[in-house]
Amino acid sequence: MSKNRVSRRQFLSYTIMGVGGFMASGTIMPMLRFAVDPVLQKSGEGDFTATPQRVDELTETPVRVDYTIVDRQDGWYKSDESYSAWVYKSGDRIVALSPVCKHLGCTVNWGGDKNHPDQFFCPCHAGRYEKNGKHVPGTPPIGPLDEYLVMEKDGYLYLGGTRPNTLV
Ligand code: FES
Repeated sequence: MSKNRVSRRQFLSYTIMGVGGFMASGTIMPMLRFAVDPVLQKSGEGDFTATPQRVDELTETPVRVDYTIVDRQDGWYKSDESYSAWVYKSGDRIVALSPVCKHLGCTVNWGGDKNHPDQFFCPCHAGRYEKNGKHVPGTPPIGPLDEYLVMEKDGYLYLGGTRPNTLV
């Protein structure tokens, strides 16, 4: 008789482990899939969203453009989210800057400081940015405003995701 013979007890253990493992995988795999599903989804950063801003109405003076991404997927939740951008024309180029201050995230305004009417101003800690988004040295922000990807379609401005400022 072989020394490697499996005892009845071992056989029973292996069988129970095998069946148990199979049943557990049937339970755990869907849970794992559910847990990581949002991570596996495409981020949609390449998507553009329509805004109510007509491109032919843009000038060299920044205007605030508000728009909404409908049914934005965030993890397992879908909701409408509102965004805004400061948009102007620079020659033929459309520039759209994020209003999110690079200090602590407040919202910047164009011409909000009467002493610097041609700059963006952050009311939270008096941060300032030049028209191209470059932060003014000596004020709290330590980097330029981000820039939106822009697209024109049927005469209207479409905005995509943000990227580091390419103008400064
Ligand atoms: S959050 Fe804008 S200056 Fe502080």
